Amino acid sequence: MKILKLIVVMTWLFLSFVLITTRGVTAGGDKDNGKELFKQNCRVCHEKDSPNGEFTPMSLTQDQWKAFFKNKFEAKHKDVILDREKKKLLEFLTTQQIEAIQKFCVDHAADSEQPQTCSE
Ligand code: HEC
Repeated sequence: MKILKLIVVMTWLFLSFVLITTRGVTAGGDKDNGKELFKQNCRVCHEKDSPNGEFTPMSLTQDQWKAFFKNKFEAKHKDVILDREKKKLLEFLTTQQIEAIQKFCVDHAADSEQPQTCSE
C-alpha cells in the first residue's frame, strides 16, 4: 500500500513538473505577457529607424490597432520570418499570443489611458 501511494505522489509530481516547464518554454516566451511578446516578436522588426516602419503601441490609436489585427496583420506578415526562430512569424505565434499582443497594443495605444512605447 505504501509503495502505491509513493507511486501516485511521484506521478503527480512528475506531471506538474512537465506542465510547468513546458508552459514556460513555448516559442515566443510568456504566453500571457503581451508586453514581453511584443518586445520579442514585434519590436525586433519595428524599432526606431526600421525600414519596416517604427511601431510601438502608442504609434496607433485603439481603433487603428483593432483594425490592423483584424484586417492587415496576417496579410502584411505572412512571409515575414523571424531570425530568432528561423520560422515564419505566423507559424509559431499562437492565437493566444497574438491576442495578448493585440491587447497590449490596444491597452497602451495613443488614445489609451496609459500610452506606452514599450521601451521601458
Ligand atoms: C520579421 C520582421 C517583422 C516582425 C517580427 C513583425 N513585423 Fe510588422 N511588418 C514587417 C514588414 C516587412 C511590414 C510591411 C511593411 C510594408 O508593407 O510596407 C510590417 C508592417 C507592419 C505594420 C504596418 C501595417 C500597415 O498598416 O501598413 C504594423 C502596424 C506592424 N507591422 C505591426 C507588427 C506587430 C504588432 C508585430 C508583432 C506581432 C509585427 N509587426 C512583427 C515586418 C515585421
